[in-house]
Amino acid sequence: MKATNTNQFPKDFLWGGAIAANQAEGAYLEAGKGLTIVDLLPAGENRRSIMKGNVPSLKPLDGEFYPSHEAIDFYHRYKEDVALFAEMGFKALRISLSWARIFPNGEESSLNEAGLQFYDDLFDELKKYQIEPVVTLAHFDVPVELIEKYGSWRNRKLVSLFELYAKTVFTRYKDKVKYWLTFNEINMLLHLPFLGAGLVFKEGDHRKQIQYQAAHHQLLASALAVKAAHDISPDAKIGCMLAAGSFYPYTCNPDDVYKAMEKDRESYFFIDVQSRGQYPAYAHRFFKDHGITIEMELNDKEILKEGTVDYIGFSYYSSRTTSTDPEVIKKMTSGNVFGSVSNPYVPKSEWGWTIDPKGFRITANQLYDRYQKPLFVVENGLGAVDELTPGGEINDDYRIDYFRQHIAEMAEAIEDGVEILGYTSWGPIDLISASSGEMKKRYGYIYVDKDNEGNGTLKRIKKKSFSWYKKVIESNGDIR
Ligand code: BG6
Repeated sequence: MKATNTNQFPKDFLWGGAIAANQAEGAYLEAGKGLTIVDLLPAGENRRSIMKGNVPSLKPLDGEFYPSHEAIDFYHRYKEDVALFAEMGFKALRISLSWARIFPNGEESSLNEAGLQFYDDLFDELKKYQIEPVVTLAHFDVPVELIEKYGSWRNRKLVSLFELYAKTVFTRYKDKVKYWLTFNEINMLLHLPFLGAGLVFKEGDHRKQIQYQAAHHQLLASALAVKAAHDISPDAKIGCMLAAGSFYPYTCNPDDVYKAMEKDRESYFFIDVQSRGQYPAYAHRFFKDHGITIEMELNDKEILKEGTVDYIGFSYYSSRTTSTDPEVIKKMTSGNVFGSVSNPYVPKSEWGWTIDPKGFRITANQLYDRYQKPLFVVENGLGAVDELTPGGEINDDYRIDYFRQHIAEMAEAIEDGVEILGYTSWGPIDLISASSGEMKKRYGYIYVDKDNEGNGTLKRIKKKSFSWYKKVIESNGDIR
């Protein structure tokens, strides 16, 4: 284990945690909120297929359990939770706004003052403790009425509706929020298209065509939001957000190496546009080979050019591995949304996610080499089962271990010359797992008393990692 000393981290490094409206707030129809994507994602085995776009109904169904409807009730308990984050010394809290809380049906006429007020109150609470908000505009979030009416992001109409939403919140919160992100894990659109972009498919759809057209619309919307943020508040810093984790070739066979490059490009594609302001050269070949034609309007290229991001936000949980050998491909890791071949050199979590701290350093270096813009680690963490001792404690040494190793590699990346603005680990308080809908898959320094079926008191309990992370922040990065 490398020891970090505290000088690697800049003085104003933004240590903290990240949560999202859809997995924390609950109160799914309260104070005028409309339905959003996750409100249609049940717990259990149908969830994965729905997230992929096979959506049986745009209304919640009787007899199903929808974990987001109550989630961890952050909507009502945010003061208690923010006080706990402050106790750990958080410098930053990443949240997302719920689009459907602010525009319940997505259209201008539905603007909901109660929704705007909720976030005003939350920002004021953060300010009380000098916690900097880092705010994502869309974290797996589209008002369901826009899915019904327009087919979500497959329709260009969403671009102007999103721009309206973005301008509304930039104007309202310009004195309270400096750091923004446009779309959470924008590349998720290719893997779980309903979760990432509200896309619903029918039999016979040319899915790739629809996905990349929707991607074009999100990229335009992101660029317009960046421009609006800068116009409304010149000090604002607005970033993109990639579900990162570099691909390794399984062997040094050039075919494997080429495939790993292609797999990385699948994700870089989005950030290449958001950061460089134009479609990368390789995209044209890709579109031709897959029979994809992107419908563009005359000034789209200009919009993309003018709306490049200030920093690169990314999540890192795992590296990924790929191969061209059909025998090797049989050994996929379970549970990994991004489809990775099992890497024999690194362990896996209880959910089959590769644990590869060195991969964090590699990924950060590659992103920085490619974009030469500051990075912001807006998610990283270990989803694990936590057991309460008879005395009511949670000794999550495995989580401390995970963080120790990852923070050590982040420090190395900084030594390598990578500029990193901050680190907000995922789920500082246990919340609903996006991929599985479980509560049992816990990421927090704070335990929430709730189980997979929705039973529990919702009581918050500090885990062992709570005081450990507090010390890391206090010392600006000492992980001992
Ligand atoms: C990222 C998302 O994919 O990973 C979060 O931005 C998500 O919303 C996190 O919760 C961890 O994934 P999971 O599936 O374990 O909750």
